[in-house]
Amino acid sequence: MYQIPLFDLNYDEREQKAVAETIASKWISSGPKCMELEEIFQKELDTPYAYAVTNCTAALHLALFSLGIGAGDEVIVPSLTFVATVNAVRYVGAEPVFCDIESLSGLTISPDRIEELITPKTKAIMVMHFGGFACDMDRIMAIAAKHHLYVVEDACHGPLSEYHGRKLGTIGDVGCFSFFSNKNISTGEGGMVVTKHEKVGERIKLARSHGMTTMSYERAKGHSTSYDVVMPGYNYRLDDIRATLGIVQMQKLRADLETRQQIRALYEKLLGACEQVIVPFAGYTEFASNYIMPVILKDSDPARRDEVRTKLQEKGIQTSVHYPAVHRFSIYRDAKKGDLPLTEYASDCGLTLPMYAKLTEEEVTYICDSLKEILKG
Ligand SMILES: Cc1ncc(COP(=O)(O)O)c(C=O)c1O
Repeated sequence: MYQIPLFDLNYDEREQKAVAETIASKWISSGPKCMELEEIFQKELDTPYAYAVTNCTAALHLALFSLGIGAGDEVIVPSLTFVATVNAVRYVGAEPVFCDIESLSGLTISPDRIEELITPKTKAIMVMHFGGFACDMDRIMAIAAKHHLYVVEDACHGPLSEYHGRKLGTIGDVGCFSFFSNKNISTGEGGMVVTKHEKVGERIKLARSHGMTTMSYERAKGHSTSYDVVMPGYNYRLDDIRATLGIVQMQKLRADLETRQQIRALYEKLLGACEQVIVPFAGYTEFASNYIMPVILKDSDPARRDEVRTKLQEKGIQTSVHYPAVHRFSIYRDAKKGDLPLTEYASDCGLTLPMYAKLTEEEVTYICDSLKEILKG
């Protein structure tokens, strides 16, 4: 019996050795390893400011907070995303306005639908690069410029993914990344927030650590002896143990993503002729992280999709749903929204297949054969 999980960690003795060294150094909270990881992000993403944080949820909160978004403001958000993207809007007292996706073959927020939802209260657009496949950033940035809106990129799925020669997360005003265990960069919990604006970066840095003007590590190194508190900030600091994992993961990331690209190409080849499924983003040409492998069942419904998932499970193949549409959760039922038929269909009839660098050709073939056989039956 095959046992193919949705995701497998890309870990080996390098993570263990690096963490042991950090523990032996006796500095385990936010310090040199966090700074090193931030520098790697700045360099790899070609962005001037990067701040390591506890997770992407904190990054999203800091993004909106540091852009000054608050009570009375509206933020246009996708609904086909993880709930954290939207919760962050409520953290700052603003209201999310749910927007549909482009199509079932392109699961990212629709620029046309965004324009229809803009009101005098709109202050920002949040985009989520589904699976590491870019939203239509040229059009979204043009809309944002025309209406004087900020753009926050939830780039959780897309480290090193590219769009017209730029890295996802660096195109809008602020970009947010997750290092949760099942992400392309895995540190257990963790995240990064990047920005091109110096002043926004300063606010992120302050808000990340209680609004304090210096950090413990700076004081321990004798760079300063005291601190002031200039805003009621948070404790959203990453620690050096997780940052150490992040540094090793960054060293492996490009090779991991290149392998995922080959796996993705094999999936596309094997499912290409299957009339019962849509493979979103098929034929995509930019470099993408392939965080997940979504497929959408054609002419289907939630019961049938769940049946297909159960049958795959019986064959030892784990699947998931990315995502239950956020606007249907109790807390967002009364929120403002446009029509969301494509989001609802993708949420009801989509499933995600296993995706990680260690997947073998034999396993991908088994997954695709199993899916096709189930759909035929
Ligand atoms: C699209 C998206 N946004 C935000 C998050 C939240 O990230 P974290 O778990 O690091 O807070 C996730 C994580 O699952 C995600 O997939």
